[in-house]
Amino acid sequence: MAAEPTTGINTEVTMEEIVALAKRRGFVFPSSEIYGGLGSTYDYGHYGVLLKNNVKNEWWRSMLTERDDIVALDSAIMQHPKVWEASGHLAGFTDPLVQCLGKCKKRWREDHLREKIEAEGGDPGGELRCPECGGELSEPRNFNLMFETHMGPVAEEGNSVYLRPETAQGIFINFKNVLNFARKSPPFGIAQIGKSFRNEITPGNFIFRTREFEQMEMEFFVPPDEVDEWYRKWIEIRRDWYLDLGIRSDFLMVRPHGADELSHYSSETSDIEYLFPIGWSELEGVANRGNFDLTQHQEHSGEKLEFFDQQSGERYLPHVIEPAAGADRAALAFLVDSYEVEEIEGRERTVLRLHPRLAPVKVAVLPLFNKEGMPEKAKEINQTLRAAGIQTEYDSGGSIGKRYRRQDEIGTPWGITVDFDTKDDDSVTLRDRDSLEQVRIPVADVPGEIAARLASPWRSPKPG
Ligand code: GLY
Repeated sequence: MAAEPTTGINTEVTMEEIVALAKRRGFVFPSSEIYGGLGSTYDYGHYGVLLKNNVKNEWWRSMLTERDDIVALDSAIMQHPKVWEASGHLAGFTDPLVQCLGKCKKRWREDHLREKIEAEGGDPGGELRCPECGGELSEPRNFNLMFETHMGPVAEEGNSVYLRPETAQGIFINFKNVLNFARKSPPFGIAQIGKSFRNEITPGNFIFRTREFEQMEMEFFVPPDEVDEWYRKWIEIRRDWYLDLGIRSDFLMVRPHGADELSHYSSETSDIEYLFPIGWSELEGVANRGNFDLTQHQEHSGEKLEFFDQQSGERYLPHVIEPAAGADRAALAFLVDSYEVEEIEGRERTVLRLHPRLAPVKVAVLPLFNKEGMPEKAKEINQTLRAAGIQTEYDSGGSIGKRYRRQDEIGTPWGITVDFDTKDDDSVTLRDRDSLEQVRIPVADVPGEIAARLASPWRSPKPG
């Protein structure tokens, strides 16, 4: 089925198909499954780890390797509780919770219920009923999303700490440390990837919304009069990142937030949205946080966090533009966007048309048969590719057709097959996942050919 971007959902693939493939092929498993699972937590299997690592590496590459105005940070998950007082999360990081007073007693986010009614053409201001059983709903109460725990052996008053709900605060509280060593002046950024935790009322949709998730956040500190320019630039830079990694442009859009949607720290935010099977949903937010966070931390800690511009002699608190992405959401979008089921010579094949740089495995090395020196030669080629830093998989089990299909399902862009002719012509067959084209190349050329293909721009062959 074709996608229908204008109708607001991606009809090419269902979330159930993605969940099934993810489990079957070792990308993502429901967590604690042997104990019946733990609500909306997931474990990444081998191919999921490789995929998510590639997503994160591409992000680091775009932040650190391709530019020299951003430095890296890896801050602690647990921070001084005053951080969350200063940041406004203790008071304001809440969602409106309503509970069914009827039969099912389920809990809902009031704002989500109203949004759904509005999207379906109803009156979002009207009376709400429980979507599950039609029961009456309680008055909304604000529910703080931070996970609280205790530091030290005894849970007592005064030793509460919180699992960070965003990585960003670790960056703000290190602003001075970074200024002292990095010899940077605004505009410059601090980037970080790490786990964050939110006690969501209604997690769901696979790895789209989970209580434990991995963020890729960068705080870009700018002189106050450059904030609009950098806000626009970062929206464009981040949108292009997804497009360059193969997301199709019809499935990506930028949506500015309405005033009622803004976070407590933001004066303007735009979401980069992807057309998931659940509809257009946020992949990444680009927010103008102004000098909210540095002002708050300066006041609450008593430490001066101003930047001193030696040229102008001016002291000021930089303003901040923040592109904040989710590594899990990005991985999900790449899975959804790449998934395709097609018929080849009367047989169905499922293929992940992932950008080669994102693909968990780059090359499958396959002996056609387990005889006449083919496995030995294939193992030798496999080792050469691995030594060149290319992620490969040697597979000698089952028919060649089955082995190709397995690799197609995990998105391996190239297959190298060693056959009867290899020992005579020292050549192998190189198969392309997308075009299914097979070419014969000398064994000696394999690493160079794969490296060249990996370095080439790539566009999805899927429409859109
Ligand atoms: N730092 C922005 C966010 O966590 O959504």
